[in-house]
Formats: sequence, C-alpha cells, structure tokens
Amino acid sequence: MYSYTCMHDLKCTRALRTTFGIHLFLYSSFPRPAEHHWRCSVRSMSSAGRKRKALRSAFVVLEQPLQPIHRHVYEANLRNSNACRNRYKECSEKIRKGGGEKAMERHTQRNGKLLVRDRLRLLLDDEDFLELSPFAGLGLPYGDIPSAGCLTGIGRINGLWCVFIANDATVKGGTAYPITVKKQLRAQEIAIQNRLPCVYLVDSGGAFLPLQSEIFPDKNQGGRTFYNEAIMSAMKIPQVSVVCGSCTAGGAYIPTMAEETVMVHRIGTIFLGGPPLVKAATGEEVTPEDLGGARLHAEVSGCVDHFAWEEKEAYDYTRNIVSTLNFQLPEEEEEDEERTRRRKAEEEPPYDSMELLGLAPKSYNYSVDVKMVVSRLTDGGRFQEFKARYGTTLVTGFASIHGHLVGIVANNGELSHQSALKGSHFVQLCDQRDVPLLFLQNTAPTAAPALSTAEVNSNRLKAQASMMSAVACASVPKITVVIGGCHGADSYAMCGRSFDPNFLFLWPNARVSMAAPGHAGSLLPPDSEQEDELNRTLEEESSAFFSSGRLWDDGVILPQDTRKVLGSCLDIIQQQQYQLSTEKLQSPLLRV
Ligand code: COA
Repeated sequence: MYSYTCMHDLKCTRALRTTFGIHLFLYSSFPRPAEHHWRCSVRSMSSAGRKRKALRSAFVVLEQPLQPIHRHVYEANLRNSNACRNRYKECSEKIRKGGGEKAMERHTQRNGKLLVRDRLRLLLDDEDFLELSPFAGLGLPYGDIPSAGCLTGIGRINGLWCVFIANDATVKGGTAYPITVKKQLRAQEIAIQNRLPCVYLVDSGGAFLPLQSEIFPDKNQGGRTFYNEAIMSAMKIPQVSVVCGSCTAGGAYIPTMAEETVMVHRIGTIFLGGPPLVKAATGEEVTPEDLGGARLHAEVSGCVDHFAWEEKEAYDYTRNIVSTLNFQLPEEEEEDEERTRRRKAEEEPPYDSMELLGLAPKSYNYSVDVKMVVSRLTDGGRFQEFKARYGTTLVTGFASIHGHLVGIVANNGELSHQSALKGSHFVQLCDQRDVPLLFLQNTAPTAAPALSTAEVNSNRLKAQASMMSAVACASVPKITVVIGGCHGADSYAMCGRSFDPNFLFLWPNARVSMAAPGHAGSLLPPDSEQEDELNRTLEEESSAFFSSGRLWDDGVILPQDTRKVLGSCLDIIQQQQYQLSTEKLQSPLLRV
C-alpha cells in the first residue's frame, strides 16, 4: 500500500512498541509510515470534510469579549507587544537590505542580475507566499547574516504550492554559512514532510570558507542538501532548479542533481573550481563562460536542460516545468462576489484580530484564558470543546480554520497530571480521526512544581510521558504556535521543535528557554551565586528573535497574522492529496 516501505525498512534503526500499542519508528529523514497513512486517508476525507462544514451548529461560538477586568493585563501586554513589533520591524528592514547597498549595486549593475525578491516576483503567482524563518542569521556569534544568505519559503507556481530555496548573492556572494545550510535543510525537510515540489534558485559561491569546519563534515551539513535532493526525487517529490548566478563547488551539484534545470546565459556558471583555480592548477587562462557557462552546459555537457537568454525567460521556463508536474488541483468553485463576501464574513472570528496583541502574554503571569485567543483564530470564533470540565489547565477541542477542521491543544496553566492525561486522549482521538493538530503553546515558567509530594510528581511525570508519546506517534500533521512561554518538559508534550511539527512559529513576545527569565532559581541549588547571572542570560537568550536567528522555529509571526498563516499551512499540508501518483519508487535521475 505504501510506496516507500522498503526504503523505510532500510532507514528504520529500531521500532518501539509504545504504551499506546503504536509502533514508533526512529529513522533519519523520511516521513514516518504513519504520515503515509495520513496521506492516504486524506483522499477519502475530502467529501466528509465538505459535509462537516454543514454542521456548524455543533461548534458553539465562544463568547470571549474583552471585559473591564482584563484591562490591566491587556494594556501591559499591548505595551510589550508594541515594543516587540518595533523589534520585528527593525529585523524586517535589516533583511530587506540584504548584503547592503554596495553589494546590491554590484549584483545588479556590474553582474547584471536581478535581486532575489524580484526573482521570486517573476517565479511565483503572487506575492502572497509564506516566507520561512526570515530572521534566521541575525545576531549570530559570527555576525548578522541577513536571511541567512538564502530566502526560503512556500509559494504558488501555477496554483501549486512549491518550496523555494533562493540564494541571496548580495550576502557574501551567496556563500553558505552554517546557518545557510541549516535553513536549506529545514526547507527541504518541510518539502519532504508535506510532499511539496522544490525549486532552487542557485546563485552561490559555495561554502563560506572561513567556517568550513561547521559546514562540511557532519551529517546535517552541506552534503545533506544533495543527499536530500536525490532522496526526494526518488520519493517523487519534484526537484527543479534555475542557475541564475554562480554555482561553484558544492553549489554545482544542486542544478546537476535536479530533475530539470534552467540556466541563464552570461550570468549562470556551473563549475567545481573557477578560472583562478584552473589557472593555478594548469596555467590555462579560461573565461567563466567557456569553463561553465549556459551554452557549454546546455549544448555540450548536458548538465542543464533549458537555455534561457535572460532571467525573465528562465522563470517562464520554470513555471512551464511546474505545469508538467503530476498534480491535479481542483478547479476553483465559481462564486458570485456577493456570496464570497458573505461567506468570508461569516467565517471571520467575531473579534478583531488586533486584540491578540493585548492577549499575547508579556510573561506567564499576564496570560489570559486561552479561549480568548482561540476565539480570535477560528472560523466564526467557533469551538467544540472536549473534556471541558476535566484537566482545565489544558484546553482541547475541535474548530475550523479557513474551512480546515483542526484539533486544538492549548495550554491554560500548568500541565498537570489530569491535563496531560486529557492531552494524550485528545491527541489520540485526532490521530484516530485524521484531524490535523494545532498546539497553542504557553507553558509554565519552570519545569518542576516546587511544593508537590513525590506521588503527585510521579503521577504527573507518567501522564506527561504518555502525552509526549501520543504527540510523537500521532501520524497527523501538526502545527505549533508558541503564543507565550516555551519552557521545560511541558514544551515537549506541546509539540516543541524536537517533536517534529510540520510547522512551528513564534509570536514576537514568545520566550524559549529551559526556565523563564527570573526563574533561574529552579535550575540551581538553593542560594547559588549564579542566579542573577543566569537570569540575565535567560532574559537575553529566550527572546523570540534570538530563537529565530538560530532557526529553532519556522519564523516569528505577528499575532494578528496567525489565522492567515495557519490557513496557508493547512492548505499547503493538504495539497499532497492532489498528486496523481506517489506510489512508484524511482531511482534518482542520472545525467550520465
Ligand atoms: N568564502 C568566503 N568568502 C567569499 C567566498 C567564499 N567561498 N566567495 C566570495 N566571498 C566573499 C568575497 O570575499 C567578498 O567579500 P567582501 O564583500 O567582504 O569583499 C564577497 O564574498 C563577494 O565576493 P566578490 O568576489 O566580490 O563578488 P562577485 O559577485 O564578483 O563574485 C563569486 C562572487 C561567488 C562568483 C566569487 O566571489 C567567487 O568565485 N568566489 C569563490 C568561490 C569558490 O571558489 N568557492 C569554493 C568554495 S568550496
């Protein structure tokens, strides 16, 4: 039934039988067998999905207006959110400038190339794309690397969601820093997990040599990009590339291993070592064009398949290639304007999304009832709660977001024994019913409760471990949004990064650290002299921007944009059901 069974068998290093009687496979980079299960079942779900929409009365509208009692908390949160938004704007402006004015001028004037965002404008249907981790690379020990030197994201080409990985050559010639490699690998991982075609816009001088030891040797470093390309191709996840600049050294393998490649005359070159290396090795003087230009590769070596006279033509070719991929998207239903307007208005939550800025907790003590957040994210503010009276520090239930049914798991206090049991139950329920999961994470500042008895502690430990197993083994897609704190073990049960959510985003107010700032005492022996210093470190290292700079997430999103981002992610996740054939196991394409 599953096309990749034998590859899974090869990849699986061990299989565990969990407390739930589910096999947990540990493997390197393949989707779990359970994910294939989700992929198969989603086909049969689509008509049921349509019927579900008709049952709106089953989902009650959450009455969660702002009350005078919330005023103090709301205003403090709003002030903090505004400060975070300023930081967000600063970071956005910084990355828009790429490698700086001089580098942009060199790129466009001297080298005659388009800037990376202009390239994306020509490649994608519209500017409404989901950019991934735009702030990755900011504030690193080796400096600020805007956009990690490479834009990644998911955009539509001829209506089909595709992952794009596009070097920004204004940042040190598009060379790969360690963070660049990490960002590219994460984009590929998203493509694998969600079966999205990949388009690479390659314009890179290869490895950033001063940091070679952090780029080259290890498993999840440079070579992994090429490995993934081959594996994805074999999994029938299409790989297309455009050579729109240098593809030197490692960069040369991306287009050469792609299934179909377009190369631009005069600005595209592919070679392992450039003219200076040839001169040093053989004494021969050769131009980049003669050594590895578009003519050579399109007419002689066969490394590329389409010769484009200029960049615009290259993106037209690429769009044509994407139109031949074996996806059949549903025709958009024709609706008259008035009906569309009415339907959209009915779907919108009853409260202004800007109110989320005052609900985004500046710290744990400023958290509000999480149903206030839920009611501002779901269609019509509707929610069908599960186990409303049990384990109330975790809220669980079903809702729709832009027409997609999801199971929501949201922190509403400490993850107690009861709430963790409820979480396990609900996660398994969603898995059973093939409903994607949305985690709204705002965990308590510290991991261990200070004054509990041994029994309470052990019961809680068992229940949390059960929930962690349930989350890890659930085969349905998972999306996590950290709306407040991401601390301690609670964050694992709430599908933190290490639990492999399909997407993980942070609000700008989010804090990510073992314990929240101000709670260093919980990590140290009593009266430790290091407490103040550790609190300062936690303060600095827990900010959402520190996290995103290091690519511990898929990006910082503004609270008011959350609903839209979630709608896009759910659309993207669902697209795999329209691929006509996923079954045949192929060997990767060879050019020779
Ligand atoms: N490692 C570190 N820095 C590199 C680099 C590399 N592989 N390649 C380029 N750079 C730096 C340059 O030193 C320059 O830095 P500066 O702005 O601080 O002066 C910047 O990137 C831009 O390079 P420059 O050569 O001025 O730009 P360009 O647009 O004319 O050419 C390249 C860009 C990538 C084509 C060219 O720099 C090149 O061929 N680099 C060498 C590629 C190579 O041999 N890589 C082997 C990696 S294993």
